[in-house]
Parts: sequence; C-alpha cells; structure tokens
Amino acid sequence: MELTLASADSLQRYRLLTSLIAPRPIALVSTVDADGRGNLAPFSFFMMGGGKPPSLAFSPLYDRQRGPKDTLRNIEATGEFVVNVVTRRMAERVNQASFDYPPDVDEFDAAGFTREPSHLVRVPRVAESPAALECRLFQVVRHGDGPQAANYVIGEIVHVRVHDAALRDDGLFDTAGQALVARLGRDEWAELRAQDVFDLPRPSTG
Ligand SMILES: Cc1cc2nc3c(=O)[nH]c(=O)nc-3n(C[C@H](O)[C@H](O)[C@H](O)COP(=O)(O)O)c2cc1C
Repeated sequence: MELTLASADSLQRYRLLTSLIAPRPIALVSTVDADGRGNLAPFSFFMMGGGKPPSLAFSPLYDRQRGPKDTLRNIEATGEFVVNVVTRRMAERVNQASFDYPPDVDEFDAAGFTREPSHLVRVPRVAESPAALECRLFQVVRHGDGPQAANYVIGEIVHVRVHDAALRDDGLFDTAGQALVARLGRDEWAELRAQDVFDLPRPSTG
C-alpha cells in the first residue's frame, strides 16, 4: 500500500498514523486555569525530549469545535503542568477523563482521581499514579492552524515523585511491574507486562 498524505482525507490519515506510530506512552496531564480550577486529560502524542535540562513534549491538537483544548489554554495561562504516568488500573478512569467536559468541570472529580499537592508547581498531582513529573513550560510550537493542528508543548521537568512501592532495588522505576499502558490505533490500548520485556545492552563495538 502506498499513500501520499496530501491526497488522503484527514480522518483516514489520522487513523492510519495513530496505528503506525505506536505503542505511545500516555501522559495524564493535570493543569489549573488562571482562577485555579483543575483539569485532567490524557495525551499519547507524548515523548521524553532531553536530559539536560530534563524535558518532555506532548501535543494537544486543535479541536474542531473549540480550538485550543483546556489543557493548552491552562498551560499557556499558568506556565505549569504535571504529567502523571498511567497504569492498567487507571485506564478506564483515564479514558473517562478524555470526555469533552466543559472547562468548568474538573476531571479529577468527573473521572474519580484524587488530588495531591505538588512539590514545586501549583498544579495538583494524581495521587493514584505511581509517578508524577512536575513541569514548567519552555515553549509551545504550533504546526498548522485548523482542526487537528499540532501544538507541541515542551516542558522542563523540575521535580519527580515516585511511590516507594514502585521502585526497584536499583532505585529506578519498576516500569513493567507497574503495568504501564500505551495507546495504539483504533480504540486499542496495550499493557506492559514483565514477560514482554527483554534486555539488549548497547553494542560495545562496531
Ligand atoms: C489515551 C488517550 C490519548 C489521547 N491523546 C491525545 C493527544 O495526544 N492529543 C490530543 O489532542 N488529544 C488526545 N486525546 C483526547 C483528549 O484527551 C481529549 O480531547 C480531552 O477532552 C482534552 O481535554 P481538555 O480539553 O481538558 O484538555 C487522547 C485521549 C485518550 C483517551
């Protein structure tokens, strides 16, 4: 199959690309608006960016009806957000948090998550998530201007909270043990299990 993207309709392109660029980790992003009202939404267009300074990026697309999503509006208003990692146990509630609630509805309450004060930012973390990354906005890079246009939110990670029970003996996060989930295409999700993991040391010679 060959597909030149300019000749495909936008839904077809979107569905194909989300099934190809997968599995994608899910950032459950908490924010507050200028008046301090909370917001929570999942984003799988999400990546680690760098180590020094530590950074990540995710992309809330422009919405057909609303333009910028609440998450983007809030981050541009406050300069802060928290990325909470998503486990299998959280998946149904995370999905519920993706419902298109009006801005005055706090998805913490609507989806059934617990607010926990953050360490360095005013945005609350999700208590149920085994790891939370507190971020300050570096830059928003827009690509396109209509529905589905990308808004790359680049954040500097300034503080990390990990549940003690989610740490392995080496002090690192127990990624597979925590059953982190990812998004595929369609309505498919994937759960990371210990048996899916294999070790591959980086080559020491060419
Ligand atoms: C698992 C999952 C991943 C999602 N990833 C994205 C994404 O990367 N970008 C995006 O714009 N919307 C994504 N969505 C949809 C948003 O979560 C949804 O539009 C949400 O209502 C946005 O909330 P907000 O307006 O409060 O920011 C995703 C939904 C789910 C369930």
